Amino acid sequence: MNTYADSARLVMERCDAIGAISEEPDRLTRRYGTEAMRQANAAVTEWMRAAGMQTRSDAIGNLIGRYEGASPEAKTFLLGSHLDTVRDAGKYDGPLGVMVALACVERLRARGERLPFALEVYAFADEEGLRYRTLYLGSTVAAGIFDPAALTREDADGIPLAEAIRAFGGDPARLSESARRPDELLGYAEVHIEQGPMLEERGCPVGLVSAIQGQIGVGVTFIGEAGHAGTIPMAMRHDALAAAAEFTLAVEALGQQTPGLVATVGRFQVAPGASNVIPGLAELSLDVRHPENSVRLEAVSQLRAQTEAIVQRRGIQLDWRAGKGQASVACSPRLMDILARAVAEASYPEISLASGAGHDAAIMSQITEIAMLFVRCARGISHSPAEAVAVEDVAVAIEVTERFLTLLAAGKK
Ligand code: HGY
Ligand code: MN
Ligand code: MN
Repeated sequence: MNTYADSARLVMERCDAIGAISEEPDRLTRRYGTEAMRQANAAVTEWMRAAGMQTRSDAIGNLIGRYEGASPEAKTFLLGSHLDTVRDAGKYDGPLGVMVALACVERLRARGERLPFALEVYAFADEEGLRYRTLYLGSTVAAGIFDPAALTREDADGIPLAEAIRAFGGDPARLSESARRPDELLGYAEVHIEQGPMLEERGCPVGLVSAIQGQIGVGVTFIGEAGHAGTIPMAMRHDALAAAAEFTLAVEALGQQTPGLVATVGRFQVAPGASNVIPGLAELSLDVRHPENSVRLEAVSQLRAQTEAIVQRRGIQLDWRAGKGQASVACSPRLMDILARAVAEASYPEISLASGAGHDAAIMSQITEIAMLFVRCARGISHSPAEAVAVEDVAVAIEVTERFLTLLAAGKK
């Protein structure tokens, strides 16, 4: 029987293998519905089948592996995370959770064991929303809360989401059929790198997630007037980039002044982008997060008011497109208690922390109880090729997840 260290080494090898599957030659980028995603799904499908799981893809292209329970009519406990990435990503944000879940199934099978419930491992097709600027395409379909209005969204090449779903082997007309029924589920648990420095600072390999803070995204476009950089006097300009720059500094200032708020302009595109042309257009993304929903919403409306004042003064038009956002969610006290017992049984200190990052678990909380286990990552770095985890900490995550499932099963007997 494999030791936890053996299983952890295999998890790391698989994260390396998946991490080598990219749309771009010199960095890791794997967006929804791309050939790279197809290859990643194919590799994970093979590993799932070799672990004795039946595999299927749902109507959006989530890959799901099922390991039957002791009795066919048993309910199902879900594990998983996402396989898509941000641009120039690290190789653990998402895939680590899928591979740790898979390792736990492999260990069950190696022992010839069946739990009193079925296990399903989701490899969600899109969590980051890089291609369609949507959040959680995969898990919103699994949770039955997918917004059909997203089907007409176009990617940078003008391909509508509905077409990308079909091209990926899914069916935009049958997404609702892929929604999971709450009454068939026992819960959802996700293992994920912390993407922050807390566990490393505290010297802990793993941590319990207490809550996932809410977030809201806004598309902000400044429409000014392009003009000759050499002839238009400064007082007559409607410079979209200058307005956007003033906005960006206002975002940073609000984040710095408001306790617990994080506010980021991550995407900043300027047109026409010539050195001798006054920018006529600036398109930005705004990402605002706070554990308390009211504080987050207040921050967005305050920024909206400040932006109106900026464009008014500069004679610029504003296009402000706020997304629906995602409210903060608390993890299930019942599942957290079992996870805490699993950490204690494995003789590791119990530390719990809120997640600054969003996760598929936040969406799955709409239909079932959720738990998350964070794994220490080097210097808390994520959304970067510098993302790194220690194989020893992955072994701890596998042991804790396995003990969690055993305790869950004991409670079900
Ligand atoms: O943005 C997030 O928190 C997640 O990585 N999608
Ligand atoms: Mn993630
Ligand atoms: Mn991420």
